[in-house]
Amino acid sequence: MPKHDTPLMDELEKGPWPSFVSDLKRQAEKSPQCWDIVGQMELSYKDRMTHWKHGGIVGVFGYGGGIVGRYSDVPDKFPGVAHFHTVRLNQPSSKFYRTDLLRKLCDLWEKRGSGMTNLHGSTGDLILLGTKTEELEPLFYELTHDLEWDLGGSGSNLRTPACCIGKARCEWACYDTQAACYAMTMKYQDEIHRPAFPYKFKFKFSGCANDCVAALARSDLSAIGTWRDNIRIDQAEVKNYLSGANKANGGGTPAKGDKFDIQKEVIDLCPTGCMWMEGDTLKIDDAECTRCMHCLNVMPKALRPGLDQGASLLMGAKAPILDGAQLGTLIVPFIKMDPENEFEELVDVIEKCWDYWMENGKNRERLGETIQRVGLPTFLRVMEIEPIPQHVREPRSNPYVFWREEEVEGGWQRDIKEFRKKHAQ
Ligand code: HEM
Ligand code: HEM
Ligand code: SF4
Ligand code: SF4
Repeated sequence: MPKHDTPLMDELEKGPWPSFVSDLKRQAEKSPQCWDIVGQMELSYKDRMTHWKHGGIVGVFGYGGGIVGRYSDVPDKFPGVAHFHTVRLNQPSSKFYRTDLLRKLCDLWEKRGSGMTNLHGSTGDLILLGTKTEELEPLFYELTHDLEWDLGGSGSNLRTPACCIGKARCEWACYDTQAACYAMTMKYQDEIHRPAFPYKFKFKFSGCANDCVAALARSDLSAIGTWRDNIRIDQAEVKNYLSGANKANGGGTPAKGDKFDIQKEVIDLCPTGCMWMEGDTLKIDDAECTRCMHCLNVMPKALRPGLDQGASLLMGAKAPILDGAQLGTLIVPFIKMDPENEFEELVDVIEKCWDYWMENGKNRERLGETIQRVGLPTFLRVMEIEPIPQHVREPRSNPYVFWREEEVEGGWQRDIKEFRKKHAQ
């Protein structure tokens, strides 16, 4: 496949940011079909429209997802991308790699595909961009047999779970996000590979409320680490912040003004106003702390999460289609996240939710929309969770309150004649 004339794409080789166009051209030396990727993209830039045909259904036997089929609508011009299927590989938790594994993967992908990748897809998968249908089974064979690596998810199923870096490199992780991510990925392989749901479903695991994997916004079930005892305060380190010996925010965001001002930068910014100084001693009324992470983020050397750690489960996040965007809504304020019991409490919540949603979810209805349709009270009832004030940001303002018949004395069966005895027409 020859080079194409690509004046618009060439513009994107200028400037300081790593250029995907330069990278593609370099890869094209080895994988000539990459010239056609650049070529077709140039045509799209010119026409201001995509040149991929609608849809595409390809895969490997045994699985109902994992590969996204795609065909060029100008295959005569760009035969190198006539087939351009995308293969999702389930990434290791937090995306730590060894070079020997990546080298093997690159060798395999240069043999079976374009050599072009996406590290990583938004959901988390390591994505191999561009191959032909006849390469899929051989690629899958070598991937599983030689690299012991599996596909990720696509379709109406559990998608590839992802997690923050967690205990591997962060002192705020309130549970082992990588262990949870890996355990749930392995436990629910069947649900990942063979679509059985009304629609897609995603898990994401963050170790604290900073939520570095953005679980709250982009997973149907988000497990976000927290603690329920007291913030651990090292008063000597607090003094080091006061004196300027410790840099606020780990030095990441310079202190506003000349000198760190604990009143301005921490105490006055605490959302619940539950912190104060007594001389140079920092006090926290933990009963009023919402565990927002602000004070810990500013003074990482002085403040640490409590020791009674676990996670909050929030459910229902989704993008706008159909009924509008949603963030996760708090369903379980606190559970233990224990690798020793294989995350038993989490599994219990997941399976109750799936039992209900798989039966009651409408076709292509995300969990968040199901909750909106049946109502949070109904969802909590099927989840066998007692409603508590923490389930709402504010109580309802409209009075359209449903009562269940058994809650109302006398029930719903009334005789109008009885009523008329007391109230003439
Ligand atoms: C002594 C005379 C009246 C009494 C004691 C009375 C009482 C009430 C009460 C207790 C409500 C319910 C308010 C609520 O749910 O918050 C109501 C609603 C209403 N009343 Fe009356 N009412 C009287 C006369 C009238 C008259 C003469 C009209 C119309 C000609 C009227 C039209 C309405 C309407 C349309 C509503 C519904 C308002 C809504 O749903 O927001 N009422 N009334
Ligand atoms: C074409 C004519 C009318 C239409 C389309 C109409 C429509 C409605 C609607 C949609 C509601 C609210 C129902 C609900 O929220 O569940 C309502 C409530 C009500 N309407 Fe009408 N209405 C009409 C005529 C009238 C007339 C002529 C009267 C009185 C003379 C009246 C008195 C009321 C009252 C009192 C309520 C409140 C009932 C309650 O709060 O339970 N409406 N109407
Ligand atoms: S979400 Fe919290 S625990 Fe996880 S990496 Fe970010 S700051 Fe650390
Ligand atoms: S974590 Fe947030 S709410 Fe709790 S004391 Fe610190 S700033 Fe206040």
